[in-house]
Formats: sequence, structure tokens, C-alpha cells
Amino acid sequence: MIGRLNHVAIAVPDLAAASKLYREGLGAQVSDPVEQPDHGVTVVFVELENTKVELLEPLGSGSPIQNFLDKSPAGGIHHVCYEVPDIDAAAERLKAQGARVLGDGKPKTGAHGKPVLFLHPKDFNGTLVELEEA
Ligand code: CO
Repeated sequence: MIGRLNHVAIAVPDLAAASKLYREGLGAQVSDPVEQPDHGVTVVFVELENTKVELLEPLGSGSPIQNFLDKSPAGGIHHVCYEVPDIDAAAERLKAQGARVLGDGKPKTGAHGKPVLFLHPKDFNGTLVELEEA
């Protein structure tokens, strides 16, 4: 069912410092910061040959990654995103197996303007999994 790894998202406490680390330290191509107020994050995209890394910094109050950074102040891997061809079919299949889709269980428009859903980390080995229709 799942296809390519779309991205790995890393929560960071300081986006400018993290961007510099990837750009200068690792020699990666790093985008300018993009504010995504609907998602409570500012993002930079690290473009790799085979996938992307997204560095996420909290934006505004109530950011969904603030709790994560409160527990892991240095930052850390927040979620992985896999591509699926049909998000509704994926949601039905997973729910039928007892997996918990976060929120109201329906796909939402994600950070890239495509339908996404998130799966409960307790059902996936402690990893928050995002599925994106692609
Ligand atoms: Co994501």
C-alpha cells in the first residue's frame, strides 16, 4: 500500500541554526523558511536526491510540536511520511485493522496541499506516521 518515503520531519528549537547546520554542515540544499499558520509551524525543506527532510519550528501558541519540544528540548524526529495512492482507501484499511487515525479519522489537507492523515504512534512502534496521497 505505501509507496515512497515523502519526508522525514524533525522538530527543532531554532530553525535558523538547524538550517545552517544542514546547509553548511551537511552541504544540503535548504529552502527559505515557510510559515504555515494553519499547521502551527514554520518549515524549511531540505531537498535530498531521494526524499525530503522537513525541519519544523513551532509557530504561534498551541503549536502541535511544542509539546514534543517540551519533552525533547534539543529536537528530534517528529514523524515520517509515506505516500499512498488513495488516502480514503488507506484510512479504511487501517481502521478495519484497528489502527487509530488521529483527529476525527478523516483525511485533512496537509502542509503540501494534498490529503493527509496521521496514525497513532502507539499503533506504529512509537512513531507518528503521516500518510499523504501522491
Ligand atoms: Co509531514
